[in-house]
Amino acid sequence: MTAAAILPLLASIPAHASDAFPLTPRWWLPESASTFSDDVDTTFAFIYWVDVAFFLMIVAAILYFAFAYRRRKEGQRTSPVRGNHALEFAWSFIPSLFLIAFFVMGFRTYMDMQIPPADSMDIRVTGQKWNWSFEYPKQGITLSSADGLVVPANTPVRLTITSVDVLHSFFIPAFRTKKDAVPNRYTSEWFEAKHPGDYHIFCAEYCGDDHSRMTSTVHVLEPAAFTAWVADHKAASASMSPAERGQNLFKTQGCAACHSVDGTRLVGPSLKGKYGVEEQLTDGTTVTVDDNYIRESLESPGAKIVAGFAPQMPPYQGRLKDDEISALIDFIKSLNEEE
Ligand code: CUA
Repeated sequence: MTAAAILPLLASIPAHASDAFPLTPRWWLPESASTFSDDVDTTFAFIYWVDVAFFLMIVAAILYFAFAYRRRKEGQRTSPVRGNHALEFAWSFIPSLFLIAFFVMGFRTYMDMQIPPADSMDIRVTGQKWNWSFEYPKQGITLSSADGLVVPANTPVRLTITSVDVLHSFFIPAFRTKKDAVPNRYTSEWFEAKHPGDYHIFCAEYCGDDHSRMTSTVHVLEPAAFTAWVADHKAASASMSPAERGQNLFKTQGCAACHSVDGTRLVGPSLKGKYGVEEQLTDGTTVTVDDNYIRESLESPGAKIVAGFAPQMPPYQGRLKDDEISALIDFIKSLNEEE
């Protein structure tokens, strides 16, 4: 077969492989909910079933030869094989065709997954121990793991992903997308959800104590419902008091992963009733929890560590604006009044 004959053959592999290959397993995979997840499944299924077929043929050949050419009496020798060009060509050429098909199917889907459409909606995803925050730069909204990632259906969404501490990995199984969240670097992925629904988000890179709880949910809404949600969300945030804004930041900035507000000891000290209290520090001195101490602890958390705790917090210098720091201070103050 010449190159001229092979090229049209390759071009005939459908762009959406799932249209042509019905043996895609559905029951052992999560729901297929993005525009390219069917193609990912089909590429996987095609490679899988070709492997199964070759495995069976090879095992059958081993068993047959072991039986047919067994030694029948003492001292019996088989005649040496001197080579068979037709056979050698066949066992090189036929598997090569499969490898080329694997490559074409895989590469097409890979390129689909790598290149977001130009009109994609942008969302920034930031991983930290142990929260995902979702920032919508156009809409001016920030959400936490607990809120989930809210996106419109049938709309391409591009995620720009980073981390403020260690490696995390942003994984939405139903969309077949997974990307590392790397400190000091941006990675990106995109998807288009096929229909409304709720899908799991996992962290797929071991990142410490609460890695397995670094989960969230994608809420896919109808485009009209998404527009309404954006308007509602903005109206609700506009009418918040500073302490309520602080409470919201406390969630979206990931503070809640390490600091409780009910007195429970987590990775860091609980903030309940802490405002105005004198704290013992690791170096033996004490400090009063006032506005300045809270501000310093947000910007350079390692400066004054409360005795009994490890310096684990990432610095928020440059990540919080002045009015956001003030809102967080107001929230921490408000935790005293609730008693
Ligand atoms: Cu973050 Cu595992």
